[in-house]
Amino acid sequence: MEEKEILNLFDKLFIPTYTRYPIVLRKGRGVKVWDVNGKEYLDFLAGIAVNVLGHCPRQVVMAVQKQVQRLIHVSNLYYSEPQLELAKTLIKNSFADRVFFCNSGTEANEGALKLARIYMKKKYGEERFEFIAAFNSFHGRSFGSLSVTGQEKYHHGFEPLLPGVKFVPFNDLEALNEAISEKTCAIILEPIQAEGGINIPDKNYLKRVRQICDNEGILLILDEVQTGMGRTGKLFAYEHFGIEPDIMTLAKGLGGGIPIGAILTKEEIAQAFAPKTHASTFGGNPVACAAGFATLETILEDGYLLDSCQRMSKYIIKKLNSLKDKYPQLIKEVRGLGLLVGVELTINGADIVKKCLKKGLLIGTAGDGEVLRLTPPLIIEKDHIDEAVMVLDKALKEAVS
Ligand SMILES: Cc1ncc(COP(=O)(O)O)c(C=O)c1O
Repeated sequence: MEEKEILNLFDKLFIPTYTRYPIVLRKGRGVKVWDVNGKEYLDFLAGIAVNVLGHCPRQVVMAVQKQVQRLIHVSNLYYSEPQLELAKTLIKNSFADRVFFCNSGTEANEGALKLARIYMKKKYGEERFEFIAAFNSFHGRSFGSLSVTGQEKYHHGFEPLLPGVKFVPFNDLEALNEAISEKTCAIILEPIQAEGGINIPDKNYLKRVRQICDNEGILLILDEVQTGMGRTGKLFAYEHFGIEPDIMTLAKGLGGGIPIGAILTKEEIAQAFAPKTHASTFGGNPVACAAGFATLETILEDGYLLDSCQRMSKYIIKKLNSLKDKYPQLIKEVRGLGLLVGVELTINGADIVKKCLKKGLLIGTAGDGEVLRLTPPLIIEKDHIDEAVMVLDKALKEAVS
């Protein structure tokens, strides 16, 4: 089918939830993808921080092929082996004692909110139901996750949302202290706000939040859907801040491209859920768990990828800062941790993203569109960064001329 015909059919057949760029992607390998016309793109968005090992990584392809021939799906009414392998490795390498598998980031956050509520209500009584979340956060599109997402543009038209949610500015301890009451159940935060603009908190912010939670007997939920799985140069972003959450959610990179999400928590909190309080038909699907295990093992293998992520982070931020020096009228700030990188512009970034796309580079935006979001796979090398920055340079040059 011709590209144009495909675009027309998409326009007609799909519920119109997406603004898509006009390319039809057919094949991917490593850091590259190709469209139906054979045009090559360097992928510095990686499925918005999903393809941590790049496209079609050998380890994930092999694990999926093996599993798909053996057992594709069984209900959680039964035990299956791939869940166990992934659970053991996640627990061994995190703060957690127990895990629950689901299918996406929003589903993980829904479950985390439910778990926090039931635990706190059982421990302290019915009144402990309020959540505190941050402005500019993003936790997903289903009602619970949407209700703790601090961006009105995503709420509009869907009210009334979940009651019992207060918002405070990210990185503002005074506001957080003021928002806490005898009703507070949990604080939910992304360690770094990704979709909200790649906002990195002050060095001690999360440590102080942890202390506040401990002092007040409040749970800390960290949404590591985007920051987890090596994205920031550590397996989980909380490791940078010298703290541990009570509950953590994962998705995106967890399956190396195959859909899977997870809730991780400590023993005592986990015990608040009992059979029939929470479930997911596809959660812990054997193929998804085999993909997750292969992804996790590859990230952890001899530490190379996490080290490389940190080295490539320094390199890309240095190169982007030289673009900032070259285009001070366009670039306000370059910021990031690991390979979660934002370039804040003085203009809306949509036009720059389109120019890059035409030149064979995939990047995205964050915030209200004024931040370019770069989330390349952890496998990138200096050559890829040189190429991407060269394309971005050309796009910025066109924008100023
Ligand atoms: C931090 C964070 N939480 C939750 C989500 C929602 O994940 P999903 O789209 O898999 O539901 C996202 C997606 O961008 C995210 O970045």
